[in-house]
Amino acid sequence: MLTDSFGRFHDYLRISLTERCNLRCVYCMPAEGVDLKPRAEMLTFEEIERLARFFVSRGVRKIRLTGGEPLVRKDAVSLIETLGAIPGLDVLAITTNGLLLKDRLPALKAAGLTHINISLDTLQEDRFRSITRRKGLSVVLDAIDASLEAGYAGTKINCVTLRGENDDEILDFARMSLDRPLAIRFIEYMPFAGNGWDQDRMVSYQEMLDIVRGEWPGLEPVQRPASAVSTDYRIPGAEGTVGFITSMTDKFCSGCNRIRLNADGSLRTCLFGKDGVSLRDAIRDGATDQELDALIGPVLRAKKAAHAGMSTIALQPDRPMILIGG
Ligand code: 5AD
Ligand code: SF4
Repeated sequence: MLTDSFGRFHDYLRISLTERCNLRCVYCMPAEGVDLKPRAEMLTFEEIERLARFFVSRGVRKIRLTGGEPLVRKDAVSLIETLGAIPGLDVLAITTNGLLLKDRLPALKAAGLTHINISLDTLQEDRFRSITRRKGLSVVLDAIDASLEAGYAGTKINCVTLRGENDDEILDFARMSLDRPLAIRFIEYMPFAGNGWDQDRMVSYQEMLDIVRGEWPGLEPVQRPASAVSTDYRIPGAEGTVGFITSMTDKFCSGCNRIRLNADGSLRTCLFGKDGVSLRDAIRDGATDQELDALIGPVLRAKKAAHAGMSTIALQPDRPMILIGG
């Protein structure tokens, strides 16, 4: 049921827990903010649990919680406890901006959270303010340390590189991998509604790689599974890795194993596609698991082989990233 017409089996579900966020990153949402949907349209705790159980019963082995910022949702920790107890789920991960993470780490760990991704685009306080339109760099840095102390080796640091804004910090970020088991990942800036997209602001994988290689010519490639979205390297002798998410210049669609559930319960089969069927409406109408199968099957089979490429994506009126959750 979770296999598409290109033979890709979707065992990785990303669930957006909320459209809200405590930051306002310039590449993620418009300055004026976004219109949030009424609470009644958001999936409830029970609906998320039901859908997660359903997807795991159909073969999903990995769930990542995203947002907005997932931890602004009041019941996030208890949701993670509930999802962490679903038999058959191997990986329960979160992508967070780290602001609310540190205090919750012991509870999240006990609840069965297995992996943490932290978004951080600059190591300079003034830039943190201009990129996220809020304060909080030291809080995020503390959360990174706390994650490692809590045993989350391999914690990923996601950095969206923007030309003229933080591209001079690539080596500083790469250095973070030297003496700590962090996976630093540079993400090519992608076009979304209202995010000031300009192809010239995008720093390509090749450019970023050249910068890192310039400093460490012995950079070693690291083998990754086919479904991995990042191309990873290790600086000789480093504890962690440096990777690149090449969504714009080198599509990795052929190994795609992900589907997305928006906070309002609509299904999205591709980050760059359109919102699909509302599973919320279906389950509020009392849909059985078999009826969900019948609903999801055709949506998944309509999934394209690859996204359209950066110029086409840039033209398409789409939802802001904040509403999709990465
Ligand atoms: N381009 C690339 N990555 C983005 N993210 C948000 N907006 C963009 C964009 N325009 C990433 C953030 C975070 C995750 C939620 O999505 O860096 O890691
Ligand atoms: Fe919030 Fe993440 Fe978007 Fe920044 S990128 S506004 S932290 S959801």
